[in-house]
Amino acid sequence: MATLLTNIAELTTNVALHGDGPGDRTGTLTDAAVLIEGERIAWAGAAADAPAAEEVIDAGGRAVIPGFVDSHSHLVFGGERAAEFEARMAGQKYAAGGIRSTVAATRAATEDELRARLRGFLDEMLAQGTTTVEIKSGYGLSVVDEERLVRLAAEVTPEVTFLGAHVVPAEYAERSDEYVDLVTGPMLDACAPHAKWIDVFCETGAFTVAQSRRVLEAGIARGLAPRVHASQLGPGDGVRLAVELGAASIDHGTYLTDADVGALAGSDTVLTLLPGVEFSTRQPYPDARRLIDAGVTVALACDTNPGSSFTSSMPFCIAVAVRDMGMTPGEAVWAATAGGAKALRRDDVGVIAPGARADLVLLDAPTRIHLAYRPGVPLVRQVWKDGDPVG
Ligand code: NIG
Ligand code: FE
Repeated sequence: MATLLTNIAELTTNVALHGDGPGDRTGTLTDAAVLIEGERIAWAGAAADAPAAEEVIDAGGRAVIPGFVDSHSHLVFGGERAAEFEARMAGQKYAAGGIRSTVAATRAATEDELRARLRGFLDEMLAQGTTTVEIKSGYGLSVVDEERLVRLAAEVTPEVTFLGAHVVPAEYAERSDEYVDLVTGPMLDACAPHAKWIDVFCETGAFTVAQSRRVLEAGIARGLAPRVHASQLGPGDGVRLAVELGAASIDHGTYLTDADVGALAGSDTVLTLLPGVEFSTRQPYPDARRLIDAGVTVALACDTNPGSSFTSSMPFCIAVAVRDMGMTPGEAVWAATAGGAKALRRDDVGVIAPGARADLVLLDAPTRIHLAYRPGVPLVRQVWKDGDPVG
């Protein structure tokens, strides 16, 4: 059945239009309509030119954007770390070592508990407009525990990332190279069949550049595509490695050097910024303005995890990116939709164009600007995923 969504005051298509200003990739239409046929978008354009359809939905002069593409999350874990957050807000520093406490809680959880939790997060995200989500492992850190996490993630998304190299687990303390042997050997064997991506936390306190290269190259040899956590806690060589290996994305980038920015600008590697992390760890926000002006492709994602960023709200991340990272509302919405799609090397999501998946968000506002202008207000009025209304 065909459904026409019409009377859209502002439609963000992310398909660059003739006449868009310099740098505007949002492809914005006013007085617009979208035709949905089955799981796909069949047509988008001026409401006055809309084709006939069996069902017509009046958007009531509101804004429509593509469903959010959240290209970085860690949704399969046990326990929480609220006390750690409270201590941080009282002045304690964030350290990657906190990951180990979630590893213990995750290993102790049953598969049913992890699955129920994961599905709860996905429902929470969908209600906030996220229609595509990438999910990483990384709180198992043993062959059986990592396999369990990627397998559970694969039940709910094709965007599964094997992050066995998240940190070195306590039982391998002082033997990090041996742990890398495990990750690139039996753990990869067990996890690769469930995953699309290979990731590594390339950072002081996690894995060195040489170790990260081993992890990524082993994953690539098994058909996984690389993405990298880097420059979260300080500057390092992770960006250079990611660009050299043709990673789809380098994520965090809180501390980027001019050389990093130059390397990213001349590459196909997306920089995925995670405003929830700087918010929740009290680190300085990266200057997205500097990055976009230099020609870097920027995505925004939540990095939902119990340690560094326990938000699942893309509208929240957009508001912070606009308020504190120098992005315009249009750039932030692009980064949270088309940018996320690029970070996952997908062209069927993040855009409203014929042939794309019918993943749409109707906002309770006349423009997308309101996502940053009215922070904290639930503005997601209706979500469609694969053409079906959600909720
Ligand atoms: O993406 N950077 C490493 N990993 C997570 C943090 C996980 C945690 O603190 O539990 C991140 O921020
Ligand atoms: Fe992360």
